[in-house]
Amino acid sequence: MNTSDKSGEKTKDSTNATLIQRIDVTPRLAIFRVRPDEAFHFESGQFTVLGLPHAALRVPDADPHPVDPAKADRLIRRAYSISSGSNQKEFVEFYITLVGSGQLTPRLFHLKQGDRLFMGLKATGVFTLDQVPAGKHLLLVGTGTGLAPYMSMVRTLSLGEGCPVRPMAVLHGARYSWDLGYRDELESLSQVCSGFTYLPVVSRPDDDHSWNGMRGRLNELLESSELTTRIGFNLDPQTSHIFLCGNPGMVEEAIVTLQGRGFDLGSRKEPGNLHVEKYW
Ligand SMILES: Cc1cc2nc3c(=O)[nH]c(=O)nc-3n(C[C@H](O)[C@H](O)[C@H](O)COP(=O)(O)OP(=O)(O)OC[C@H]3O[C@@H](n4cnc5c(N)ncnc54)[C@H](O)[C@@H]3O)c2cc1C
Ligand SMILES: NC(=O)c1ccc[n+]([C@@H]2O[C@H](COP(=O)([O-])OP(=O)(O)OC[C@H]3O[C@@H](n4cnc5c(N)ncnc54)[C@H](OP(=O)(O)O)[C@@H]3O)[C@@H](O)[C@H]2O)c1
Repeated sequence: MNTSDKSGEKTKDSTNATLIQRIDVTPRLAIFRVRPDEAFHFESGQFTVLGLPHAALRVPDADPHPVDPAKADRLIRRAYSISSGSNQKEFVEFYITLVGSGQLTPRLFHLKQGDRLFMGLKATGVFTLDQVPAGKHLLLVGTGTGLAPYMSMVRTLSLGEGCPVRPMAVLHGARYSWDLGYRDELESLSQVCSGFTYLPVVSRPDDDHSWNGMRGRLNELLESSELTTRIGFNLDPQTSHIFLCGNPGMVEEAIVTLQGRGFDLGSRKEPGNLHVEKYW
């Protein structure tokens, strides 16, 4: 039976989910497919928590962290955006990067198929398409694993027709081309769906000789007139909504740029046409 300590963290066996598949994009970047023991419902763009006890093993190339025996059974929990479509009932998918100095990710990356972990059964967050009126164009901008909520949105919106049901563009920034997770899926979709654009951008191309696509940081592209040509719709605050997700530096700089172009964060009660999710 589970008990709770003072912090409310569950002790003893707090696992309630199984890792049913793990797809390694690189040694530091992976897609985790988790099947919770109980039913789980969420809206695309939301997140939940994953957790493992302090005693769980870490990958060998992570920074060493001695475990305090008093905390051994306590869960380390962190928030993760869901990348599967909301109608995928077999598993809940996450797109996670290994932070070598971190607490949870070196333990998550030690897991193999069939291992148990904790998954929060309540999805949270307002980074969803709920507040976006039908017919608005969508620009979804993410760095690194900040692509995850957009994968969920694109997958959910693609059901039935096979293409997203509204005009949208995904702008994904990563250090190297091999860090562009989901690239094949998004490229295929953009080839068959006229209203869907995928723009991968690599920020460290000098060390990536195979890359001949777009280069630089996403903020540079957001400031350029080239973007409109590439996405095929005007970035007009009257007709478009923009989502920003991932590295807080990118998010903060992009907010300033886009506010200068008339986009507005709004308030919790009345969300604007600019939606943000910072990962740290
Ligand atoms: C709403 C929300 C959703 C999130 N969704 C995801 C997700 O889908 N995928 C994911 O990988 N992370 C996601 N994160 C970050 C995640 O919660 C953890 O912070 C991250 O996995 C590091 O955990 P850790 O315990 O290993 O490191 P910690 O010991 O908590 O160290 C945190 C440090 O790691 C770095 N860091 C954290 N997250 C990232 C990241 N994604 N990319 C690069 N550097 C990072 C930052 O420097 C941060 O200060 C999300 C965070 C929030 C708030
Ligand atoms: N990916 C790797 O090969 C690697 C290697 C060693 C360690 N790590 C660790 O792994 C974690 C994840 O790294 P990550 O590459 O997935 O995530 P990241 O550091 O957030 O980088 C993702 C993308 O965001 C860009 N970016 C960073 N700050 C920005 C800003 N202020 N404005 C606009 N764009 C910005 C990066 O460009 P820049 O390239 O210009 O920074 C990169 O294109 C980090 O903790 C990192 O220390 C990763």
